[in-house]
Amino acid sequence: MKVRAAAVFGLNEPWTTIDLDIDEPNPGEVKVKMAYAGMCHSDEHVRTGDISQPPEVLPYFGVDSMFPLVGGHEGSGIVESVGAGVTEFAPGDKVAVSFVPSCGRCQPCASGKQYLCDMSAGTLAGPSFDGTWRHHIDGKNANRMAQLGTFSEYIVVSEYSLVKIEPWQDLRAAALISCGISTGFGSVVDRADVKPGEVVAVIGCGGVGSGAIQGARIAGARGVVAIDLLQSKVDRAMKIGATHGATSILDAAFNILPDLTFGRQCDVVVLTPGVLHGDMIEQARSITAKGGRIVVTAIAPWFESQVDLSLFSLAMFNQSVLGTVFGSQNPRFQIPNLLRLYEKGLLEIDSVITNEYSIEEVQKGYDDLESGKNVRGVVKF
Ligand SMILES: NC(=O)c1ccc[n+]([C@@H]2O[C@H](COP(=O)([O-])OP(=O)(O)OC[C@H]3O[C@@H](n4cnc5c(N)ncnc54)[C@H](O)[C@@H]3O)[C@@H](O)[C@H]2O)c1
Ligand SMILES: [Zn+2]
Ligand SMILES: [Zn+2]
Repeated sequence: MKVRAAAVFGLNEPWTTIDLDIDEPNPGEVKVKMAYAGMCHSDEHVRTGDISQPPEVLPYFGVDSMFPLVGGHEGSGIVESVGAGVTEFAPGDKVAVSFVPSCGRCQPCASGKQYLCDMSAGTLAGPSFDGTWRHHIDGKNANRMAQLGTFSEYIVVSEYSLVKIEPWQDLRAAALISCGISTGFGSVVDRADVKPGEVVAVIGCGGVGSGAIQGARIAGARGVVAIDLLQSKVDRAMKIGATHGATSILDAAFNILPDLTFGRQCDVVVLTPGVLHGDMIEQARSITAKGGRIVVTAIAPWFESQVDLSLFSLAMFNQSVLGTVFGSQNPRFQIPNLLRLYEKGLLEIDSVITNEYSIEEVQKGYDDLESGKNVRGVVKF
């Protein structure tokens, strides 16, 4: 079938809405009619080259280019049809997508760590998990962000990449919870394991940061310091659980933390800026307490491998630097779980969604993210 979808055709080229050809689902696959797709910063990383793979890596994915690539890895929708052998999903089911697949059988899945599922290795580019292509543009195979490509009226994806939600659950909230909100929430609650009474700083208050701030609030942090270059993002963060706000790490270090922490600094510092760079690690560490944890959630350019870090302080202050994918939580547990918190009014999503766009307006949505207008934009189908 032909559907409207937003793709990018080369490095730094704009998101362009095109006609995409989608085949019917193969065994183990599901066709979903999309309802909402969130506009996470990670899709921009592909367009701008931060997570585009170098030529020598591309053959590993079975392609000679990351482009064309259908964007989008946050989203929700309704199952339209299922391929042979799919028993978990049926037409009419409400689903959220998950950019980390969970096959349930690989060693990480079997040991309770779905977020490390081995199937993720094939999600950056290349064919579907069964080695064949389901999406085509003008007769040519199309890559899909995270083997999802949610900027599309319909998607055909592996059942491993879908999470069933309850019939009454909200599809718009599910779209944001499917990546940004969950990732931020888990960065604080699961990866940093925040305890009641701790002080948490969140650096970068976009969609992922909004999940981190609320994770800290719900986990019982006594201080939640929102740090963003933009005052407007700090102001919004204060409405969803931040207790203090600053427009730079220095501002927080001088004007907030001395009183808030009695000079002890933050127990947890979460890094969720749009693009991470190595010099931010020491900046984050400099506001971390003895025994504190620094969580690295944001994505840095692929080739960047140098980090500023006071190794003496890291050792003598007994601190940890922790990476995380999907907030180190299991999508099949955490996506429905956070939707329940949303239903109970404990997790704020509606005000995090700052604008809705049509599928024809994906580039406009990312322009609005770049200019600071959006916390999170969503495509509404
Ligand atoms: N680890 C994972 O599994 C995972 C999952 C999803 C997203 N991500 C990454 O998380 C990051 C955040 O994603 P997002 O969608 O929330 O991005 P976003 O663009 O919506 O938000 C980023 C925020 O950081 C702020 N910012 C930028 N530079 C800053 C700085 N130096 N100091 C303070 N604030 C700064 C921006 O003003 C913006 O408000 C991205 O790098 C994204 O790719 C990682
Ligand atoms: Zn994302
Ligand atoms: Zn697995």
